[in-house]
Amino acid sequence: MALSAAKCPSSSAAAARLSLGHPSLRSSTLLRPFPNSARARRLPSRSFKNWNLSVVCKQEAGAVPVSSSAEETPSKNVENGGLFGLSSEEYGHAIGLDASERESTVSITVVGASGDLAKKKIFPALFALYYEDCLPKHFTIFGYARSKMTDAELRTMVSKTLTCRIDKRENCSEKMEQFLKRCFYHSGQYDSEENFAELDKKLKEHEGGRLPNRLFYLSIPPNIFIDVAKSASRSGSSKDGWTRVIVEKPFGRDSQSSAALTRGLKQYLEEDQIFRIDHYLGKELVENLSILRFSNLVFEPLWSRQYIRNVQLIFSEDFGTEGRGGYFDNYGIIRDIMQNHLLQILALFAMETPVSMDAEDIRNEKVKVLRSMKPLQLEDVVIGQYKSHTKGGVTYPGYTDDKTVPKGSLTPTFAAAALFIDNARWDGVPFLMKAGKALHTRRTEIRVQFRHVPGNLYKRSFGTDLDRATNELVIRVQPNEAIYLKINNKIPGLGMRLDRSNLNLLYASRYSKEIPDAYERLLLDAIEGERRLFIRSDELDAAWELFTPLLKELEERKIAPELYPYGSRGPVGAHYLAANYNVRWGDLSASETT
Ligand code: BG6
Repeated sequence: MALSAAKCPSSSAAAARLSLGHPSLRSSTLLRPFPNSARARRLPSRSFKNWNLSVVCKQEAGAVPVSSSAEETPSKNVENGGLFGLSSEEYGHAIGLDASERESTVSITVVGASGDLAKKKIFPALFALYYEDCLPKHFTIFGYARSKMTDAELRTMVSKTLTCRIDKRENCSEKMEQFLKRCFYHSGQYDSEENFAELDKKLKEHEGGRLPNRLFYLSIPPNIFIDVAKSASRSGSSKDGWTRVIVEKPFGRDSQSSAALTRGLKQYLEEDQIFRIDHYLGKELVENLSILRFSNLVFEPLWSRQYIRNVQLIFSEDFGTEGRGGYFDNYGIIRDIMQNHLLQILALFAMETPVSMDAEDIRNEKVKVLRSMKPLQLEDVVIGQYKSHTKGGVTYPGYTDDKTVPKGSLTPTFAAAALFIDNARWDGVPFLMKAGKALHTRRTEIRVQFRHVPGNLYKRSFGTDLDRATNELVIRVQPNEAIYLKINNKIPGLGMRLDRSNLNLLYASRYSKEIPDAYERLLLDAIEGERRLFIRSDELDAAWELFTPLLKELEERKIAPELYPYGSRGPVGAHYLAANYNVRWGDLSASETT
């Protein structure tokens, strides 16, 4: 039974935000702080539809000339000598409102608007949120990049890539048209305060005297993060609303460069203005991990070394780095997937029960896990690189066949590692990670292999291979999201034959609703000021601290990766690594290789 019927029913914020005094709002990012009362009253409703209540009342009383049409650009009124020529603050004073009583608006600026991420993920996610009525009533989207483009050209570009999950739904083209009317473009240099000041002027026109909140999505290479943060914070930030900046990995290449990046950003932004995305945290089943553990009595008591033999975090893609070789070669699979996506899942999986579901409580627990990890040893790591392979008459290129990859590159496209958490709950339990490109399948999953049943009465039915009879919980993050538990069961009939079966929760059969893209959830959270799914700087430091010595050693000693054919199951070394800890990779067992 669905618990909520709202059209925009749940973001991460919803669960945590049950009272006006919610800490994530108390610590909301404001360049110029509100009085406390104003902060509390700024609480957005879940679907944003009630945001304008106080203003609507005043409008009804004839006091506020605010446009009721979401699409109308209030700047038109400036020419008529209306109030919109004033700054938002002056406007508020003029009509006798304090900050908390004014209508608010959100301006979302996608910096690097013509890039791949913006086109493939950010604009489609914003549209999906719009379609679902999850964006505030008043919002404007600006694309910002160096190339010259008109608003119309941006709209054409965006419309071409809005082939998102929404596109087959009712009224989609109508909604899309309305959405595109809210999208604008400003061309400027990334390090130009002057260009950001021009943007600021345009944003103000669209904000039309409402309380301005501003979100900048830095969809640009990290070497220009600081330039943009500087220009945006000096010339483009909101004067009396909040300003937030979303950044996406890579956050440096190691502890040192990551710390330098954080220092650079913090010259211009407060920590709570920085929203570091790890899009895996926005995936449905990753978010569900805490619910599974903490709201079901049957799991949490088993969640320790006492019952869990090993945990496997597996990421595999069935395509190579085609087209991204230039970027990838500078990072490799350990930095690209393990240090962030898989480690974040591990931290969520292994953390202690947080005091509450508030962002800081959860992130505190995650940091503790990361800081309790044993240093990674080279002998606990296997690296690989895919090579060309011909199958069914088709030749798949090797990693170094990519023209953007230097010949003889030693960059790993595959890695497996055994990690350990040195705390009372997890002492001695191997957490095995495996991540690879150009493998035989695309899949991300968490596998929990439980211990043997002591004194198993049915030993004889399983022969000598007791591992085959242990329970395994599988959380398939993607594709075909599912949670299933492997159990032993009697085959019906008069005999006593046992079978391995699955208690299976396949999302596609259980839930008719489509699963939103991770970026939708994360963008919505950033707009709402919910930080739970974003990485705090101390988490980032701890993650780098774990991987930096290993990466240095691999690179300094020029360790050659084991080659594996494109489309295969990866290097055989991964099996030996697991075997060192008496583990078999669950995804490679006979029942799972389809
Ligand atoms: C990105 C990596 O963070 O995640 C890519 O840089 C990878 O290399 C991608 O392909 C995978 O994301 P998803 O959501 O498609 O599984």
